[in-house]
Amino acid sequence: ATKYRPFVAVDLPDRQWPSQRIETPPLWCSVDLRDGNQALIDPMDQERKQRFFDLLVKVGFKQIEVGFPSASQTDFDFVRALIENDRVPDDVTIQVLTQARPHLIDRTFEALEGAKNAIVHVYNATDPVFRRVVFNVDKAECTRIAVDATTQIRSRMDAAPETHWTFQYSPELFTTTELDFAVEIVEAVMDAYEPTPEHPMIVNLPATVEVAPPNNYADQVEWFCRNVKDRDCLIVSVHPHNDRGTGVAAAELTLMAGADRVEGTLFGNGERTGNVDIVTLAMNLYTQGVHPRLDFSNITPIMREVEYCNQLPVHPRHPYVGDLVFTAFSGSHQDAIKKGMAARREAGEGVWEVPYLPIDPLDVGRSYEAVIRVNSQSGKGGVSYLLEQEHGIELPRRLSIEFSQVVQEVADRLGKEITSQMIYQAFVDEYLAKT
Ligand code: KIV
Ligand code: ZN
Repeated sequence: ATKYRPFVAVDLPDRQWPSQRIETPPLWCSVDLRDGNQALIDPMDQERKQRFFDLLVKVGFKQIEVGFPSASQTDFDFVRALIENDRVPDDVTIQVLTQARPHLIDRTFEALEGAKNAIVHVYNATDPVFRRVVFNVDKAECTRIAVDATTQIRSRMDAAPETHWTFQYSPELFTTTELDFAVEIVEAVMDAYEPTPEHPMIVNLPATVEVAPPNNYADQVEWFCRNVKDRDCLIVSVHPHNDRGTGVAAAELTLMAGADRVEGTLFGNGERTGNVDIVTLAMNLYTQGVHPRLDFSNITPIMREVEYCNQLPVHPRHPYVGDLVFTAFSGSHQDAIKKGMAARREAGEGVWEVPYLPIDPLDVGRSYEAVIRVNSQSGKGGVSYLLEQEHGIELPRRLSIEFSQVVQEVADRLGKEITSQMIYQAFVDEYLAKT
């Protein structure tokens, strides 16, 4: 028999996600420096954290979870350095995570002393397996832990009015928590914090482990939004992980289902198979005509900086950004791209109809030069394209067919990619040197 993990079924008889399209970008929160960092073999030191933070600011993040200061001295020191060295722009809010335990909350506020804007993010596990197996608490005790933490946080915030505070609560493993209990505990937390439409709190609904299809997460978020009281006092946030490989789909569907905010990481680093990849998510929005309000117009240096900070490579086929994604190896693809590029020149600016390329590489700061490469799998299209574009040699059709066979022989013999310089050399050897 197979082993299976049950997931929470949602009773939504008139299931109808409020939207079939994402019309506006969500609020973004990067958790690279916390969730991402805790998943690294070699966690970031101060220098890498600072470089990553500066990058996130440059990309346009307005909310950045910078660490777990009550759990790590490195994170505590990093938060202090950000505040004391005035490294946080006025329009950026730093977020820190804490467990719902009194001494850890006190330590968290110690780390945040003097911050201009801060989100205090408290969580406790609400999932039934965790309640039973890990913590041995019933629902009432689980609720009491969340409410006591909220009360303590509220009074610490009230005592430090020089900081602009936001409160965030996560029922950990939301997606495997009974839905009615998730609503019940969030409402108890709301009673303790007393959010208003003018000063809402964030409720973050994590798919801590992705155990169900993405539409199930969306149904859960829709059910939550419909059933929780005072929805206008809440910013509903999602936090997808990627255990089933559907983190991006889950984020998109939950946004259509009513979520306002997404927590994730650049290129999807994070616990196990990672957090949702904000780059892919943002670029998906971009390709449907919604500007994500994050700037990925020069993606390669961003990718290299993240690779340095995480000490992890980005996959060469990573959507939109990988080193190979604007490269066509097969002849028929090269031919279609060549025709699409030519038709585009006729169609004019602003039109993107080039086959096999979902976006204009220029939109992420990549160049056409890398688009067409030639190897043993290529047809005549790529060969003549490179000869024409890079060496100004336009071949008549018959010669183009004949010469592509010459190039294929070279490619077969060498068994590797053929550069445009090699193509030019083969042309010289075959036709010019012999005359
Ligand atoms: O995945 C998760 O549940 C978390 C929480 C701490 C929000 O990272
Ligand atoms: Zn997480």
